[in-house]
Amino acid sequence: MLKKAYFMEVETVMSYITNSINPDGVRAQEIIESLEQDIQEELGHARQFGQRIKELYGVVPGSLDFSAEQSYLQPPDEQTDIVHVIKGVIEAETGAIDHYNKIVEFCDDKDLVTQDMVIQILHDEEGHRRLFEGFLREYKAEGLA
Ligand SMILES: [Fe+2]
Ligand SMILES: [Fe+2]
Repeated sequence: MLKKAYFMEVETVMSYITNSINPDGVRAQEIIESLEQDIQEELGHARQFGQRIKELYGVVPGSLDFSAEQSYLQPPDEQTDIVHVIKGVIEAETGAIDHYNKIVEFCDDKDLVTQDMVIQILHDEEGHRRLFEGFLREYKAEGLA
């Protein structure tokens, strides 16, 4: 579960770098800045998951074990399509939230240190999702999403 979480964070870093560079347009700037900030946070999460794997006497997996899953965060046909990026981010964060909730549940009565770490990361992801849900609201209010 921690290895999966580690790879989810690494893929999110990759996708957020992509989507913090590609978008065009005046309104894209807010999204770009927000993703640039998230990249650092997600990278921190990846490191935390990696460290915890090691502390539990596991080995952090190499890149050949990685298989990409974030189809929804691929570059849109039009680089001004910000709604595509916002929805992709919400889906990525929701995927993380679901998986981390499973880890938290699994850790009950087994590993409270991992549980504590994952609860904090979960809190970050809920904050990310809420922020992007707010961005989406604006587009919805204008009938653009
Ligand atoms: Fe994360
Ligand atoms: Fe996140």
